[in-house]
Amino acid sequence: MKPLWLPTGTSGSVVATLLLLLFSCTTFTSTEAYDALDPTANITIKWDVITWTGDGYIAVVTMYNFQQYRHIQAPGWTLGWTWAKREVIWNMLGGQTTEQGDCSRFKGSIPHCCKKDPTVVDLLPGAPYNQQVANCCKGGVLNAWAQDPETAVASFQLIVGSAGTTNKTVRVPKNFTLRVPGPGYTCGPAKIVRPTKFSTNDKRRTTQAMMTWNVTCTYSQFLAQKTPTCCVSLSSFYNNTIVNCPTCTCGCQNKTEPGSCVDPKSPHLASVVSPPSRALNPPLVQCTSHMCPIRVHWHVKLQYKEYWRIKITVTNFNYRMNYSQWNLVVQHPNFDNVTQVFSFNYKPLTPYEGLNDTGMLWGVKFYNDLLVSAGAVGNVQSELLFRKDKSSFTFDKGWAFPRRIYFNGDNCVMPPPDAYPWLPNASSTLVLSLLSSLTRILASFLVLSFTC
Ligand SMILES: *[C@@H]1O[C@H](CO)[C@@H](O)[C@H](O)[C@H]1NC(C)=O
Ligand SMILES: *[C@@H]1O[C@H](CO)[C@@H](O)[C@H](O)[C@H]1NC(C)=O
Ligand SMILES: *[C@@H]1O[C@H](CO)[C@@H](O)[C@H](O)[C@H]1NC(C)=O
Ligand SMILES: *[C@@H]1O[C@H](CO)[C@@H](O)[C@H](O)[C@H]1NC(C)=O
Ligand SMILES: *[C@@H]1O[C@H](CO)[C@@H](O)[C@H](O)[C@H]1NC(C)=O
Ligand SMILES: *[C@@H]1O[C@H](CO)[C@@H](O)[C@H](O)[C@H]1NC(C)=O
Ligand SMILES: *[C@@H]1O[C@H](CO)[C@@H](O)[C@H](O)[C@H]1NC(C)=O
Ligand SMILES: *[C@@H]1O[C@H](CO)[C@@H](O)[C@H](O)[C@H]1NC(C)=O
Ligand SMILES: *[C@@H]1O[C@H](CO)[C@@H](O)[C@H](O)[C@H]1NC(C)=O
Ligand SMILES: *[C@@H]1O[C@H](CO)[C@@H](O)[C@H](O)[C@H]1NC(C)=O
Repeated sequence: MKPLWLPTGTSGSVVATLLLLLFSCTTFTSTEAYDALDPTANITIKWDVITWTGDGYIAVVTMYNFQQYRHIQAPGWTLGWTWAKREVIWNMLGGQTTEQGDCSRFKGSIPHCCKKDPTVVDLLPGAPYNQQVANCCKGGVLNAWAQDPETAVASFQLIVGSAGTTNKTVRVPKNFTLRVPGPGYTCGPAKIVRPTKFSTNDKRRTTQAMMTWNVTCTYSQFLAQKTPTCCVSLSSFYNNTIVNCPTCTCGCQNKTEPGSCVDPKSPHLASVVSPPSRALNPPLVQCTSHMCPIRVHWHVKLQYKEYWRIKITVTNFNYRMNYSQWNLVVQHPNFDNVTQVFSFNYKPLTPYEGLNDTGMLWGVKFYNDLLVSAGAVGNVQSELLFRKDKSSFTFDKGWAFPRRIYFNGDNCVMPPPDAYPWLPNASSTLVLSLLSSLTRILASFLVLSFTC
């Protein structure tokens, strides 16, 4: 499997570094939202006109989160658009607009919203029964498709007035914006598609929407402009060095600026940890050398004749966030033969044929699906048992460590390959250290040439 241009004996870690660099450049600088592990990832918004009314129509709007491992967590999504004409929203179920706007031109019944560019949010769980519709009222939280397609869908109903009342006079809304609540998603134009067919519960009758349009939104890490939020640390039974997350991965500890992070021994811990709100709170992390809200630790624990075992620990250092429905995407060549996964759910990710080295892990409902904040327990753990593949298995050259880890879809920064715990008596320590300097030179060259 070694590329031809490398002399024999070249360390695999050099190749890995180059590939990693190439990969991170191409994925994170492009505004084209393309993720090789989830190539069709999108959120589709489907707008079904169910019936025409005297001055407009009744529509059911449904959002499908077709992303395998990227979810929308609290405080949830907000969906906006711009009306094409002077439409108003008479009434809504399963959601509400954040502002009513100027309805002074109306006498008698007053619309729910008169804004040209309404912004809709989901209702909270426990909303009055007569304001609910199917799939509503989850506080804007949308699960990832691979994790649970049933809770990856959201819906609300609109009664639209001052609008067209036939499929010839109605105008589709423009400029859809999806926020979570920060940026990251870009939505395309609404496209009129074949009207949705609905079947009744007993499947004995099918009805049809008057008109349907779809909007597709995609995520881009570049637009989200996020600094890293996650890092990886490594250890193994065959070497007692614990390789910590790279220093300053997510920020640097600043001793001269109090309040940039929290010392867990601080007496006024409760006062700095503000309660959660609808705004996207910046993370408030425990003081560590890496300053990341999330750390994933990969420990190579044991080996048997036929199998080997690792332990994964995910730690939450963010005082402001309990991560619900969290997930991990992990890439390692031995994922083609996972034998057993303890205390997490597991699903192989196979975006295309031939890719069999990537899997997705997430918590077991009511047991460890909530990764609580650093104030409380703060971590979840699992062990994975792999069957050794005789042709590739080795503890040499960091093979036993993951190639890539995502937490909630965001890339976790790995330690540099030359820092991985080595097997004792690694045969070619000198060669390897020479190679790692070469790696660094090549890496900086690549960084320059790709300007990422
Ligand atoms: C959105 O995702 C679904 C499910 O993966 C896929 O079938 C569909 O083609 C995607 N749409 C676009 C426009 O990529
Ligand atoms: C509008 O409805 C008519 C039938 O009532 C149909 O023939 C036509 O294709 C529809 N046009 C659009 C744009 O959906
Ligand atoms: C689209 O919406 C965004 C945010 O609501 C706004 O900044 C932008 O000006 C709008 N563009 C058009 C063409 O209406
Ligand atoms: C519109 O979206 C719905 C829901 O995702 C999907 O079933 C349908 O195939 C889409 N239509 C087109 C033409 O993409
Ligand atoms: C630390 O904070 C001080 C005051 O805000 C600032 O002047 C300094 O540049 C910061 N240092 C680092 C390393 O961020
Ligand atoms: C996280 O959950 C714990 C326990 O359920 C709760 O005490 C704490 O207030 C929550 N923190 C946040 C930031 O939601
Ligand atoms: C994977 O492991 C199972 C037993 O756990 C074995 O039967 C199978 O042949 C292995 N497959 C590969 C490709 O190594
Ligand atoms: C996984 O993919 C590799 C390379 O594509 C292939 O050699 C290997 O046999 C595959 N393993 C399984 C279990 O399909
Ligand atoms: C453990 O790995 C480190 C590299 O992280 C290396 O410097 C050290 O020599 C190794 N220890 C032993 C006993 O081989
Ligand atoms: C490691 O090297 C030392 C001396 O350099 C030797 O005594 C020892 O047996 C070696 N251990 C292994 C596992 O090769």
